Amino acid sequence: MRTSTALVAGALSAGSVVSASWYGGGNGNGHGSLYGESSLNHTCVLEPTLLSCSAATYEPGVDTCCAETFGGLVLATQFWNTYTVLQDEGQKLPKNSWTLHGLWPDFCNGSYTQYCDLNRQYDPEPSPNTTNGLPSGTPVPPYKGPSIATFLKPFGKFDLLAWMNTYWVNRDGPNADFWGHEFSKHATCFSTFDVPCYGPSYKKHEDVVDFFETAIMYYLRLPTFKWLKQGGVTPSNSTQYTLSDFQGILKGKYGATPYIGCSGPRFNTTEAGKGSSDTGRTEISEVWYYSHVKGRTQEGRSVPVEVSPTFTTTCAKTAKALWYYERSDGAEF
Ligand SMILES: *[C@@H]1O[C@H](CO)[C@@H](O)[C@H](O)[C@H]1NC(C)=O
Ligand SMILES: *[C@@H]1O[C@H](CO)[C@@H](O)[C@H](O)[C@H]1NC(C)=O
Ligand SMILES: *[C@@H]1O[C@H](CO)[C@@H](O)[C@H](O)[C@H]1NC(C)=O
Ligand SMILES: *[C@@H]1O[C@H](CO)[C@@H](O)[C@H](O)[C@H]1NC(C)=O
Ligand SMILES: *[C@@H]1O[C@H](CO)[C@@H](O)[C@H](O)[C@H]1NC(C)=O
Repeated sequence: MRTSTALVAGALSAGSVVSASWYGGGNGNGHGSLYGESSLNHTCVLEPTLLSCSAATYEPGVDTCCAETFGGLVLATQFWNTYTVLQDEGQKLPKNSWTLHGLWPDFCNGSYTQYCDLNRQYDPEPSPNTTNGLPSGTPVPPYKGPSIATFLKPFGKFDLLAWMNTYWVNRDGPNADFWGHEFSKHATCFSTFDVPCYGPSYKKHEDVVDFFETAIMYYLRLPTFKWLKQGGVTPSNSTQYTLSDFQGILKGKYGATPYIGCSGPRFNTTEAGKGSSDTGRTEISEVWYYSHVKGRTQEGRSVPVEVSPTFTTTCAKTAKALWYYERSDGAEF
């Protein structure tokens, strides 16, 4: 969701936003196409398995449906929130678990693009409201159709829907609005989730279901709460932690240092941080795990990648400056 107003303030982007409009145009089938893919069947098992961001993916003739092209730095992102605002309406948080934020296709150089296919715009509150976040971008019209949750019904995916309502939770808004946001802002920018990739027998919204399941696959392999607990770091409203506690534990478990995001007051505005030059924020709220992927993102053959050294965190770096807060009473299932 990054730079959203609905969720955690202070989530900054790793790099600059690039307009989606530089891509080659459509494929003539009425769906936007990032790379002008053919309407062939894209039988990827017959294609070489290329590692995203490697030179081979930039060679001519690569089937962009079978290798993640351009957006090959894949980020599996999660939230730690202590409440949802809507807990009294039953929108709660899962016990002993971070929640799913999304799966994002950053460019190999760390910048990214967003809202790449306005034919698949299901976000009721586009954020930003143009494709590049600037007045010069293409406006992203608010979606007014049936909720993206209804797209799962023809596929009979009620188990998926129930899971998503438990682990993919919005803050101060319906969960499905958040899913629509994540799909349209980010999933439409993966080459492997492009509509032509589903071949001639594409079923409407198959790409949406596929994206949800893929984002969940990555999430389930990254049990942040459990990993931190195994490293001795659990939510506490009395003990503060150090950034390197989180980085060290998660690097040990994942194999590469993730980005750690914080919200809340800046350290130098807190009592403990008076006079300090540390302006990092003090409440743990996000983690982004980076990877490259072999073949289709959907297959989950990912290789961990270190966070960019120029954008590792928004958190305070002073020892014992960070709160990993316990959830509010009544905020959990
Ligand atoms: C990063 O890569 C993208 C896609 O290749 C390109 O459009 C963009 O200009 C690059 N950005 C920088 C800062 O090099
Ligand atoms: C986007 O939002 C800004 C700030 O609210 C507003 O000034 C601008 O008109 C909006 N642009 C579009 C295309 O809706
Ligand atoms: C592609 O798939 C369609 C059915 O979805 C089939 O009719 C067609 O023969 C296939 N083409 C090739 C080259 O396999
Ligand atoms: C915190 O640091 C920022 C940046 O140096 C500064 O603008 C701000 O005034 C500081 N706040 C306090 C309360 O010291
Ligand atoms: C812990 O502190 C946070 C931040 O003040 C608060 O939102 C939450 O309700 C607290 N949890 C408990 C169990 O006291």
